Amino acid sequence: MEKGFILWFTGLSGSGKTTISKALQPELKRRGCKVEILDGDVVRTNLSKGLGFSKEDRDTNIRRIGFVANLLSRNGIVAITAAISPYRAIRDEIRAIEPNFVEVYVKAPLEVCEARDVKGLYAKARAGEIKGFTGIDDAYEEPLNPEIICYTEPESIEDCVKQILSKLEELGYI
Ligand code: ADX
Repeated sequence: MEKGFILWFTGLSGSGKTTISKALQPELKRRGCKVEILDGDVVRTNLSKGLGFSKEDRDTNIRRIGFVANLLSRNGIVAITAAISPYRAIRDEIRAIEPNFVEVYVKAPLEVCEARDVKGLYAKARAGEIKGFTGIDDAYEEPLNPEIICYTEPESIEDCVKQILSKLEELGYI
């Protein structure tokens, strides 16, 4: 059986988590991996439907994603997760239950994410229409010791994908 692992992306909204994970998936498949993506936005429309963005709800969302990712990983599947996962303690909780955990900090300055404002939500957060938005008036706790840091500004998505693949090779996952 192929070796499963969790590739855990964390970072601000608009930092590039979803984009990188989608670009990475075919590359991993090409190398013979089975890959599933658990994307925050997608999970919130089914598995976590009804949850909001309080600390408690985010923790529940992240624990659910971690639980499913762990099930996949132990069955030989690469589980890529792409949720903000802003709180360090919950990320570390999942690291503690998952023997094959690779944390990728997708790091882009808040100003850059805000300028991209892909979904128009930063503007709403600034206008006070959304309360408790990560990076604006809710915390984002950076990973202290991630296996990988991707700087999506100025690096290209292709560069980030290459960087992740070479680290996964170095770690013996692929
Ligand atoms: S997490 O905090 O629970 O990890 P998740 O990644 O699932 O968040 O969802 C984040 C997405 O929800 C953002 O990219 C954004 O589109 C949307 N969103 C809506 N409200 C908020 C908020 N208050 N804070 C952050 N993201 C929000």
